[in-house]
Amino acid sequence: MIERVDGDVVAIAEFVVAFLLDVVVSLLLLLGVIVVVLFVDARIGVVLLVYCVLMAVAMLNAQRYAVPAATRVREKFAALFGNLEERLAGAEDIRANGAGNHVVNRFHRASADVYRADIRAERIGGGLFAATSVAFAIGTAIVLGLAAWSQQQGALSVGTALLLFQYTQMVRTPFERLIDQVQQYQKALAAIARIGGLLAEQRTLPEPAKPDPLPTTGPLSIELSNVGFAYADNHEAVLTDVSLLLEPGQTLGLVGRTGSGKTTIARMILRLYDPTQGTVRMGGIDVRNIGSASISRRICVVTQDVHLFAATVRDNLTLFRPGMDDDRLRAVLTEVGLSTWLRGLPKGLDTMLGAQGSGLSAGEAQLLAFARAFLADPGLVVLDEASSRLDPATELHIEEAIRKLLTNRTGVLIAHRLSSLARVDQVAVIEGGRVVEYGRRETLSRDPNSRFGRLLEAAGMV
Ligand SMILES: Nc1ncnc2c1ncn2[C@@H]1O[C@H](COP(=O)(O)OP(=O)(O)OP(=O)(O)O)[C@@H](O)[C@H]1O
Ligand SMILES: [Mg+2]
Repeated sequence: MIERVDGDVVAIAEFVVAFLLDVVVSLLLLLGVIVVVLFVDARIGVVLLVYCVLMAVAMLNAQRYAVPAATRVREKFAALFGNLEERLAGAEDIRANGAGNHVVNRFHRASADVYRADIRAERIGGGLFAATSVAFAIGTAIVLGLAAWSQQQGALSVGTALLLFQYTQMVRTPFERLIDQVQQYQKALAAIARIGGLLAEQRTLPEPAKPDPLPTTGPLSIELSNVGFAYADNHEAVLTDVSLLLEPGQTLGLVGRTGSGKTTIARMILRLYDPTQGTVRMGGIDVRNIGSASISRRICVVTQDVHLFAATVRDNLTLFRPGMDDDRLRAVLTEVGLSTWLRGLPKGLDTMLGAQGSGLSAGEAQLLAFARAFLADPGLVVLDEASSRLDPATELHIEEAIRKLLTNRTGVLIAHRLSSLARVDQVAVIEGGRVVEYGRRETLSRDPNSRFGRLLEAAGMV
C-alpha cells in the first residue's frame, strides 16, 4: 500500500518535472529540425517527417510489450522482498521448527521468478533498443543517400548535404525522450486515477458530525445491547445477541474457549469495528456518537501481544507524547514492579528497546504495557490477558498491577487464568459468540451447577 502511494506520487512528480525539461525542449528541437530541413530541401524534409511519424507509431506499439514486462519484474521483486521480510521476521520460529530447507527452497523459487521475468524484460528492452538503432541507421542512410543524390543532381552543395545529415542525426535524442515521456504520461495518468480512488475512500467507521462528549474524569459505564457482528471477510456471525451491562467502577470478566469471540467483544467496546446489530454505549452514549479521539483518550487497552517500538523506554511508555515528567515515568514503572528491571538498564529511560534495542521477556513486556495504561489514566480499561504462562513471581507482579489499574476504573478483563477472575464483580461465559452465562461472580461461583462453578471446580479452585 505504502509502496503504491509512494510509487504513484513519484510517477506524477517525475512526469511534471520531466514535462517541462524533456517534452517541451525535445518537441521544439524536433520541430525545429524538421522545419529547417523542409526549408533546405522540401523533399528530404517530407521524407524525414514521414519517417518520424512511422517511427513514432512503431515505437509506441512496441511499448505495449515492454511496459507489462517491466511491471512484471517489479511485481516479482515485490513478492521476493515481501517473502524475505516475512521469513526474516519469523526466523526464530522457522529455525526452531526445522522449516529452514523449505524456506530456502521458496526463496530460490521466488528468485528464479525474478530472474525469468527480468531476462524476459531485458530481452524485450534490448531487442527494442537494437531495432530502434537499426531503424535510425536506416533513416540516416536514406537521408544521406537522398542528400548525396541531390548534390549530384546539383540541387544541393556539399556543405548543405552535410548540414542535412547533421540535422537528421539530431532527431534521435529528442525523439527517444518524447517516446519515454509518453510512457511517463501514461503512468502518471494511471497514478492520478489511483490516487483519486484512494482519496475518495470512505471511512468504515464514520465520525459523528457532532460528537457527544464523554465525561473527562471518573470511571465509565459500558452497555452492550443485543450486539451482533461478523467480520467483513467472513460472513459467519462471530457475535450474536450479546448483552452486557457494567456500572462505572465495576469489573467484568470474560471467559470462554479460544475463538469464542472474547477479543471481538473487546473490539466492539473500543469501536475498532461497528456492530452489525445492536448498540454499544459508553457512559450512556452510543459509541457511534462519540469521537474517536475521545474514545482513545478515555479507554486503555492491554492486548494479548504487546507491541514494542524501536525506540527508547521513555518513548515506548509515553508512545512518543512529549512533556511527561521522568519522575512520573519512574514512579509508574515502580508501581507495576519494573523498578529492578529499570535499574538494570544501561541507559535507564534512554535505553533503546524493540527491533534495534534489547528485547524484553513476555512478562516484562506485559508489565510495560500496564505502565502505559497507568500513564494514560483512563476511565475504562480493557485487558486481553496474555495466554502465555509466566513465572509465578511475574504473575504476582501482573496481578498486583491489574488490581491497582482496576481500582476506581471500569474494567473488562478477558481472562485466560481463572485466578485473575478472583477480583471481578461480574462474569460472562462466552460460547460460539453468545453469552451463555452471565451474573455476579459470587453468585455463579457458589452455584455448583453453573458453568463458571464447574470451571472453578475443574481447576480445583473451590
Ligand atoms: N480480523 C478478523 N477477521 C476475520 N475473522 C476474525 C478476525 N478476528 C477474529 N476472527 C474470528 O472470529 C472468531 C472469534 O475470534 P476472537 O479473536 O474474538 O476469539 P477469542 O475468544 O478472543 O479467542 P482467544 O481466546 O484465542 O483469544 C474466531 O472464529 C476468529 O477466527
Ligand atoms: Mg482473543
